[in-house]
Amino acid sequence: MPEKNIMTMIDEAAGFIRNRIDFTPEIAVILGSGLGPLSKEIESPTVIPYGEIPHFRVSTVAGHAGELIAGTAGGRRVLVMNGRFHFYEGYPMEIVTLPIRVFARLGIKDLIVTNAAGGIKDSLKPGSLMLISDHLSFMCPSPLAGPNLDEFGPRFKDMTDVYTPELRELAQKTADRLDICLDDGVYCYFRGPQYETPAEIRAVKLLGADAAGMSTVPEAITARHCGMRILGISLITNKAAGLGGSQLSHEEVGEIARQSEQNFVRLVKNIINDWN
Ligand code: HPA
Repeated sequence: MPEKNIMTMIDEAAGFIRNRIDFTPEIAVILGSGLGPLSKEIESPTVIPYGEIPHFRVSTVAGHAGELIAGTAGGRRVLVMNGRFHFYEGYPMEIVTLPIRVFARLGIKDLIVTNAAGGIKDSLKPGSLMLISDHLSFMCPSPLAGPNLDEFGPRFKDMTDVYTPELRELAQKTADRLDICLDDGVYCYFRGPQYETPAEIRAVKLLGADAAGMSTVPEAITARHCGMRILGISLITNKAAGLGGSQLSHEEVGEIARQSEQNFVRLVKNIINDWN
């Protein structure tokens, strides 16, 4: 059976979620590989497995739980995606970014996107946290290709300041207060699922990349198209290919994420607390 029209799919998913939670969330949070422990901090949680939500896919990646959690954190009403959809799982971009448009339909105006990434800039070592200042999307099939969804935004959307300057400033102040080192940098999207080659990393380093990963950019482009404010944080789990002297593995990524999750959780919780 062919998939339904994308607007119908968005509205059905949004309608389902609206019926399951009794408030309008202020901030949506997407948790990347191994960053799920933040979801344990949500107070009065309503947990909705993705399998129950029309048109949501079941996450196929280890470290991605596949549940939507509505509740409060730092005194704010939040909607947390514990696990995301990736292009490398074989989903079309409109499915990868469907949750973002559903968030917009629910009236959510602010988005926090998180991910695990490989560090390219010298200062970004395993365990470092990076505030995303901008991204390189040239390897990312545009999630805005196809008929424009005028309900959300214009055909040709500006991509200056995708990552909202005032939220970056807020995150930096929160990190300083907590004495957590938060370096800023440019996130470079790769399609995956294979890790990059050392030559690819050398190439994008020359072009200004500070970290490499396989997510976030489709979501950020879509959220920007919807006019949302966006904050992006990467947890550096490894030196990118060719820079660390060892081969990369998803297990290593998960292990470092586990070791560093305390700082990450503390930072994001406090950012939400300081949100304005
Ligand atoms: N490359 C791409 N994605 C990643 C990496 C990496 O080095 N580390 C964690 N996710």
